[in-house]
Amino acid sequence: MGKRWALIAAALVALVVAVSCYDEEGGRWEGGGEEGGTGWREGEDWFLLQDSKHVVRTDAGDMRVVSGFGGRFVKSPMHIGFITMEPKTLFIPQYLDSSLILFVRRGEARVGHIYKDELVERRLRMGDIYRIEAGSAFYLMNTGEGQRLHIVCSIDTSQSLGFQTFQSFYIAGGTYPSSVLAGFDHLTLATAFNVTEAELGEMLTRQMNGPIVYLSDTHSPSVWSKFLDMEQNQKLAHMRRIVRIREEDLEADEEQPTWSFRKFLPSIFKKKEGKGGKTGKGPDAYNIYDRKPDFQNNYGWSTALDESDYSPLKHDDIGVYLVNLTAGSMMAPHINPRAIEYGIVLRGAGTIQIVYPNGSLAMNAKVTEGNVFWIPRYFPFCQIASRTGPFEFFGFTTSARNNRPQFLVGANSLLHTLRGPEFAAAFGLSEDRLNEIINAQRESTILPSATVAPPEEAALVKLHREEVAKVVSSFGNEMVMGFD
Ligand SMILES: *[C@@H]1O[C@H](CO)[C@@H](O)[C@H](O)[C@H]1NC(C)=O
Ligand SMILES: *[C@@H]1O[C@H](CO)[C@@H](O)[C@H](O)[C@H]1NC(C)=O
Ligand SMILES: *[C@@H]1O[C@H](CO)[C@@H](O)[C@H](O)[C@H]1NC(C)=O
Repeated sequence: MGKRWALIAAALVALVVAVSCYDEEGGRWEGGGEEGGTGWREGEDWFLLQDSKHVVRTDAGDMRVVSGFGGRFVKSPMHIGFITMEPKTLFIPQYLDSSLILFVRRGEARVGHIYKDELVERRLRMGDIYRIEAGSAFYLMNTGEGQRLHIVCSIDTSQSLGFQTFQSFYIAGGTYPSSVLAGFDHLTLATAFNVTEAELGEMLTRQMNGPIVYLSDTHSPSVWSKFLDMEQNQKLAHMRRIVRIREEDLEADEEQPTWSFRKFLPSIFKKKEGKGGKTGKGPDAYNIYDRKPDFQNNYGWSTALDESDYSPLKHDDIGVYLVNLTAGSMMAPHINPRAIEYGIVLRGAGTIQIVYPNGSLAMNAKVTEGNVFWIPRYFPFCQIASRTGPFEFFGFTTSARNNRPQFLVGANSLLHTLRGPEFAAAFGLSEDRLNEIINAQRESTILPSATVAPPEEAALVKLHREEVAKVVSSFGNEMVMGFD
């Protein structure tokens, strides 16, 4: 009897823990900027990007942006966006003054955007990389049944209007968000649409569910789902009106954007799609998980994409990389001679060490899932996986071309390239002694390093969660849905 009560009590405790874990993780993919715990030290303020803001937050999803660091080292910083969308939702059509590179972290999406004046639609799956140009109108839909969509994206502000910020322009909208059309004088706009001002008001005030909306009727019916319910010809008429004004507007300013509403809007409501979820000519997505790693050994692997792998990357000259270190391994100390690097921890935990060019330690910080860090060009750094599990991180480099990381340690290091009497003398060593030291490490790029790898506190929590999940699932409870 006593045993049974103990078990029930344990289960209750487990449930409480489960619920609080769920809250902490927010059910959404939060992470990043979660202060406390480790106690931030100097350098962490600077290289761990913690200025995180929700730019969109609705019942149907949210978008959080972690601001890059501007100033001395970077003129137009890259921001990192995290988009979370519930099943059957739409991120309504908009265009940005910044280009985006999307990475589908989990789930499936349909993206539609204007590419060279044509509507291009693609179905995206986990691991896909896809670029959307600044000024190109686009929308995103979570097509997964019962599956949340998580996207990580780079936001390249080099063409943005404001210094270090980016701006969304919603095409359709109402009171929240407001449509760019709403800015016109209402009488002018009504005349252009050939409708009364009252009718116009109707069109521009209904939407109030925010930029990410549900498409299904199980939630408060949105303008979008009402719109979807319209008869086909009504829809078209409605859209043509929008098209007409926009085209008049465009005639005045001919070199303006590479998209038109006529091509854009109908697509959203079109059911048909081409083979493999493809409609329209334009680049396909590139799946980073389908690719053979560029480097692999017993301690992990790494892969990097540039424009020769995925041509749209050439427009912004941005590279994409993915690294997976096994427990207790490290990416050997190295520098990026041409690029600034932005990293996002996808899984596991580890430490990042960054060194100033003058040889003093700039940062030695623990990072976990969702943390965002950046490494200035020329700064030596290394990443070390915790001893408890693999450490997976993904990111962007600001130069897709010719950024060959230079390793400072390991069998492929600069020290091997530079070896010789002068170099040994520079260390104040004999050549033989220097050779002994630099030859001791036989591995290159990714090295075993269990002795310096952090024994990670978060591991306790994780173990705990697994235990909890076991107990709770033995009760057949849905509370564990938040775990993944
Ligand atoms: C405006 O609407 C009226 C009536 O609905 C129609 O007769 C007229 O041709 C329209 N004008 C234009 C320019 O479309
Ligand atoms: C990373 O490596 C671990 C094993 O060390 C493996 O379980 C995991 O699936 C890998 N991640 C990816 C994305 O391949
Ligand atoms: C090295 O450079 C950093 C950043 O400029 C500075 O804060 C630090 O004091 C310097 N350290 C030494 C030893 O010069």
